[in-house]
Amino acid sequence: MNQVKIGRFIAAMRKQQHLTQREFAELLGVSDKTVSKWECGNGMPELSHMQSVCNILHIDLNELFSGERLTDTDYKKKAEENMMNLVEEAEKLKKNIVGGNVLGTVENIEMDKCEVHRTNTAFWSTAGNELLGATALPSWGNFFPSEDKLKLLGDLTDKSVLEIGCGSGHSLKYAADLGAADLYGLDISEDQIGRAQEYMGSQRIMAKLVCSPMEEECGLPVNYFDLVYSVYGIGWTTDLNKTFGRIHSYLKKGGIFVFGWSHPIHKCVSIEKGRLVFDNSYFNEKWYCANIGGREIMLCNRMMSTYVNALADSGFVVEKLVEEIDRDKAVASGSDFGKKALMLPTVFVIRARKV
Ligand SMILES: C[S@@+](CC[C@H](N)C(=O)[O-])C[C@H]1O[C@@H](n2cnc3c(N)ncnc32)[C@H](O)[C@@H]1O
Repeated sequence: MNQVKIGRFIAAMRKQQHLTQREFAELLGVSDKTVSKWECGNGMPELSHMQSVCNILHIDLNELFSGERLTDTDYKKKAEENMMNLVEEAEKLKKNIVGGNVLGTVENIEMDKCEVHRTNTAFWSTAGNELLGATALPSWGNFFPSEDKLKLLGDLTDKSVLEIGCGSGHSLKYAADLGAADLYGLDISEDQIGRAQEYMGSQRIMAKLVCSPMEEECGLPVNYFDLVYSVYGIGWTTDLNKTFGRIHSYLKKGGIFVFGWSHPIHKCVSIEKGRLVFDNSYFNEKWYCANIGGREIMLCNRMMSTYVNALADSGFVVEKLVEEIDRDKAVASGSDFGKKALMLPTVFVIRARKV
């Protein structure tokens, strides 16, 4: 598939329709950066957008994949070529992974904090929870032992606790059930904060909810919390050191920070015919834009040493690093994801103390 040719064709057809990149992007419900990326040959429209792209540009799919207008004589030959190309592309698509999800094409990007925040907020404000599934305590993630068993949060009776990336508030409810007296949640998405507010209300739980990126100053009290925790929240930060520095400042001396995220090795390896295959370098921490169910996310994979060193630099001492698997669950799933989990950790959780 010649993406540069396709990109030029999209640009030419868009201009023929007298549309700017922004107008075209608005019609499709994507960002103008996404359109610019396609037109520069740095990616193809996702499957969910292809038909709309064709409708707006008055072309058909065969012409889109060929990157040119087709005459009746070219049409059949090009259709066959395009089908072969698509089969090859489909093989490549199996390689990129977020959680248990196999993603569409992953594109490296220059990290732009505002763009990352805008993209990820839009993802979580809309279909994030449905697409990535429940990520709330007592679960730390797929095939990982539950918090009920690990008890990494410790005794929460009468404690002040803060959740980073609190999402819909289900983990705050778990902390409340364990006796936490003073509950705070922080999330970048107003919609998620709204969901958490509604859920807390329905459970008659009082919680102070703050809408802010975790990297930024947001008025949370300092030297105040006994525990800060995060379940699939921390990895979304654009600045790990700054975020850990802030979390350190919110905690009392001796306070505990516990967080879980996808294990970095999990993203590097896929399973093919029962064998593990390395697709991505463990050392690659470049930012990328990926697509889940037609929605963009922006992330980077960080090495385990990056997390541990950022904790140390911020004044934390690591008390525990858990890389375990609930073997019964992995076996029972019968899935490739489960088979992979029997050989490599899918999730890690770190418990650290402010010194
Ligand atoms: C996997 S969800 C967490 C779900 C949560 N553990 C629960 O119990 O529902 C990740 C959350 O992180 C939030 N998030 C993403 N980027 C963020 C950022 N830079 N600062 C704060 N929150 C962020 C998202 O809006 C989303 O709600």
